[in-house]
Amino acid sequence: MTSLYLSNLMSDHSLIEKALVLIERQLQKKTKINFTALRTLFDFLWDYGDLCHNMKEEKVYFPLLLERGLPPSGPVGVMILEHEEERKFINLIKSQLDEASSGNIPADFHSNINSYIDLTKNHIWKENDILYPMGKRILTPDDEIFLNAEFRKIEKESLGEGAYLRYSTLLDAMEKESGGKVDLLASLSTEVINNMLDALPIELSFVDADDRVRYYNKMDGEKIFTRSLSVIGRTVQQCHPQKSVHLVNQIIEEMKAGKRDVATFWINFENKYVHISYYAVRNSAGEYQGCVEMVHDIKPYREIEGEKRLLDEN
Ligand SMILES: [Fe+2]
Ligand SMILES: [Fe+2]
Repeated sequence: MTSLYLSNLMSDHSLIEKALVLIERQLQKKTKINFTALRTLFDFLWDYGDLCHNMKEEKVYFPLLLERGLPPSGPVGVMILEHEEERKFINLIKSQLDEASSGNIPADFHSNINSYIDLTKNHIWKENDILYPMGKRILTPDDEIFLNAEFRKIEKESLGEGAYLRYSTLLDAMEKESGGKVDLLASLSTEVINNMLDALPIELSFVDADDRVRYYNKMDGEKIFTRSLSVIGRTVQQCHPQKSVHLVNQIIEEMKAGKRDVATFWINFENKYVHISYYAVRNSAGEYQGCVEMVHDIKPYREIEGEKRLLDEN
C-alpha cells in the first residue's frame, strides 16, 4: 500500500505533469498561443510546484533521507540541483512571457519551454521511480507520520488550506477547454491496438451500454469460448444459454444502477480452469458505458510457487 506522504508527493507530480501537457498543447496549437493560459500554468508551476511541492522535498523529505543514511552527494544532491535549474527556467520563461504576449516572441522562447519540460519530466521520473522507492526502504513508520504532518503544514503556510483541490479544479477546467484528457491510444493505430489486445493470454469481449456485443479479441485465434462475427450487434442476452440469462441480466442491471463494478466466476471446462470476470466500464462521471468480459485459463497459475526472476530459454 502506498503511504500517505508518498501519495501526497506523487499527486503533486501528477498535477505538475498535467500542467506540462497543457503547456505542450499551447505550443503545438495551430492557432494563436493563449499567453494568459501559459502565464496561469507557469504561475502554478512556481507557486505550487516550487513554493509548495519542492519545499516539501527540500525542507523536510530530503533532510530526513540524509538523516537516514543517504549521502548528500547522491541522488538527493542531484534533485536539489535540478530544482535550482527548474527555478531558473521558470523565472526566465515568466519574464519572456510579457514580451511574447505583446507579439514579440523571443527567439529562444519555445526552446526554453521545451528544455524546462524535459528537465521537469525527467526529474519527476527519477523521483517516482528511483528516489521515492529508495526512501520507502529506509524511512520508519514514525518518519511517515512526521512527513504527513510537515507536508500539511507547508501546504497551509505556502498557499493556504485546500490549495491542492483549488489547483486541481483549475487544471481540470483548463484540460477540458483544451481538448480533454491525454489520449494515450490516439498515437497508436487500430492495427497495433488490436495486436496488443490479441497478444494477451486472455479473451476479452465488450458489450456496450445497450447490451450489444461490440468487440472481441483473437478474432482468428484459438479461443476457450468460440465466438464469431455473427455475435457482433446481437444483445448479450441472445449470446448466453437460456439457463444463465437471468445471471447476465442481474449483473448488467446492477452495473447500470451503479451497485456493482465486478462479477467473477470460475469453472472447470475442457481440462482448463477458467476464470471469467466482468468489469463495468464507466466514464469519468461514473456513467455506465458497457461491460468488458475477461476469460482466462488460470490453471497454469495455480501451480506457481516461490519466485521466478530469470528469463526462459527461447
Ligand atoms: Fe523534486
Ligand atoms: Fe518532486
